[in-house]
Amino acid sequence: MNARINPSILAADFANFERDLGRISSADAAHVDVMDNHFVPNLTFGQPMVERLQEISPVPLDLHLMIKDPDRWAPEFAEMGVFSVTFHAEAATSPVTLAKKLRERGARAGIAINPSTPLSAVEEILPHFDQLLIMTVEPGFGGQSFMADMMPKLARADALRRSHGLETWLQVDGGISLDTIELAASNGADTFVAGSAVFRGDPGEQIAALRAAAEAAPHAH
Ligand code: DX5
Ligand code: ZN
Repeated sequence: MNARINPSILAADFANFERDLGRISSADAAHVDVMDNHFVPNLTFGQPMVERLQEISPVPLDLHLMIKDPDRWAPEFAEMGVFSVTFHAEAATSPVTLAKKLRERGARAGIAINPSTPLSAVEEILPHFDQLLIMTVEPGFGGQSFMADMMPKLARADALRRSHGLETWLQVDGGISLDTIELAASNGADTFVAGSAVFRGDPGEQIAALRAAAEAAPHAH
């Protein structure tokens, strides 16, 4: 398995994004948590900010939109030339139409589900997406504890994509560290978001260690 490691810049120094993006140049993508203070109780990056990050980042941007009304806003983010745009199933009105719009604008289309949202909410629409994000914390903040009780849902998502022959990437986000990444990998995740674990230490070393741990994990199923 090729593990993709996407550091979350929510854990970077907000006064030094250019420096911190330079420190994660060995990552597969930079995960950018867009929060609107309505879908989640926190406020982070708006469009002008993401536009500028896209210009200076040495790695592609993986946007995680924790916003209300993604049907209205997500296409504008896709137009910036970012690598992927993931919106929440709980917030979208017409997810399949929106996925199509994102792909038309050149971005990979992702759909995210909160810990309390069952896999059945996205099961039938999964073929329209390039990525499924299974949240392993409640969205809103970095530095929270990994929810190991999401592993059965992750394993079922992995089984689902295999049985349908889908190429959908399975992303996990929240509490991913050297202590938890093997468990997530063995349950089928292939794309790992890590904020505090990467920026707490030397980012380059942390990325390499996380990648090695994920790739060494035995598949549980
Ligand atoms: C939480 C965000 C995460 C967050 C992860 O709402 O979606 O991307 O930055 O942070 P850590 O890795 O510290 O749990
Ligand atoms: Zn995120």
